[in-house]
Parts: sequence; structure tokens; C-alpha cells
Amino acid sequence: MANKSVWSDNRFWQRSATWVTGFASLLLIWLTLDTSAQIQMGTDADLKNGVQKRVPGPTVINYKITYEMSAKRGHEVPVIGEKEKFFGRDDYSEEEAGALLHLGKLGSQAKNCMDCHTLLGNGAYYAPDLTKAWLDPAWGPDGAMQALTGKNTKEEAMAEFLQHPDQYATHARMMPNLGITAEEAKGLVAFLKHMSSIDTNGFPRNFGRMQGAVNGK
Ligand code: HEC
Repeated sequence: MANKSVWSDNRFWQRSATWVTGFASLLLIWLTLDTSAQIQMGTDADLKNGVQKRVPGPTVINYKITYEMSAKRGHEVPVIGEKEKFFGRDDYSEEEAGALLHLGKLGSQAKNCMDCHTLLGNGAYYAPDLTKAWLDPAWGPDGAMQALTGKNTKEEAMAEFLQHPDQYATHARMMPNLGITAEEAKGLVAFLKHMSSIDTNGFPRNFGRMQGAVNGK
């Protein structure tokens, strides 16, 4: 036993394995807790008190959302601004806003938007990434979509498009008519607006420059 190298010592490897596994487990537990805290959805009170949350509460639909370059973080971040009307109202309660988002989420699953689009990193790239679609300038006052759909607000223009996408064939690829009702469209637009307010660390990268569809032309 005198000259036995440590590298050929079983006990050395056993102990190493135990330590590495133990350390990795603790790290994973810590990361899980940290992530859970980071993605915990905020509340209406947070929004009213100006508390920034990565995932704002449902009543964020009562506010204007913009996307601004953060020099500190090196990418754009959603900024929640003044109150803004959404389908004529800016006083949705937490329950009402939550119900709309729920309707939108169910609609997005039932109609399988992910079959063509990407939402928060999941889905396909046949059609534009929807994570920040609400912030696509094409839907804003200077964009083409309000005039095209004959609507005066972003949300109404988007809802109209979702109900009759095949009537607004402005692009190389057309979104098919999925039989979306007016109520579903409202929920879907609320869902998209809420999603755009989520701080995704600048993902998708180069949003606005890479969008091939609506604002690409
Ligand atoms: C079969 C593929 C397909 C499915 C499924 C689909 N879309 Fe689309 N969608 C497209 C294509 C293609 C475009 C781009 C062409 C266009 O805008 O007319 C588009 C465009 C859009 C836009 C405009 C994007 C932007 O940047 O402003 C929105 C919003 C949108 N879709 C929402 C949805 C939602 C919500 C669903 C699910 C309910 C959905 N789509 C399901 C193909 C699809």
C-alpha cells in the first residue's frame, strides 16, 4: 500500500462523487428557489405602488407598455407606464383581468398558436415570435394595421386581425382563419399584452429588426 497513488484509490473517487453530487443538488435547489421567486406573478398592488416584477399581475392590461433600451442591461426591457384604455376601460379588476388572460391562454392552446408561432421561447418559427407581438409598431398609431383593419386602437386592430387574418394578407405567409370569436380574440389580445410586459432578459433578441411579418415591410 505504500506507494499507491491517490488517483487509483477508490475511496478518493467515492468521496469526490459524494461531494460533487451534494454540491450540485444544493446548487439546483438554490437555483429553483431563486427562479421561483423571480417568476412569481406580481399583484395589482405592486402595479399601483410601482413595484417592478418580472411577471406583472394581470391588471397590467390597464397600463401602457413600451419597450426601451436599457444601457445597464444591454438589451430592451418592457416599461410599464401610464394608465391606458384596453377595449375602452382602464379599470379591470384583478379578477376580470385574470379571467381575460385565462380565456386567452386557453384560446392559445385550443387554437395551437405554437404550431406556427413562438411564445416565451416555446413553439415554431414559421410565423413571427409572439412574445412581444403587442409591442410590434405595426399595431401602433404609426403602423399600418389600424388603417388596414379600420380600427382606431391597437387592441381592436389586433382582435379584428385575429378573427379574420385571411382578410389582411399583407405578407408572404398568411395566417389562416382559425374561427376565433370576438370574445376569444379579446382574451387572446389581453394574453399577448400581458406577455409583452414580462421581462424576458431581452428575448427574443433583436425584436423589431428580425420580425419578418407585419412590421417587416
Ligand atoms: C398555421 C399557422 C398559424 C397559426 C396556427 C397561428 N398563426 Fe398567427 N400568424 C401566422 C402567420 C404566417 C403570420 C404572419 C402573417 C400575417 O401577419 O398575416 C401570423 C401573424 C400573427 C400576428 C401578428 C404578429 C406581429 O408581429 O404583429 C399575431 C398577433 C398572431 N399571428 C397571433 C396568433 C395567435 C394568437 C394564434 C393562436 C390563436 C395564431 N396566431 C395562430 C400563422 C399562424
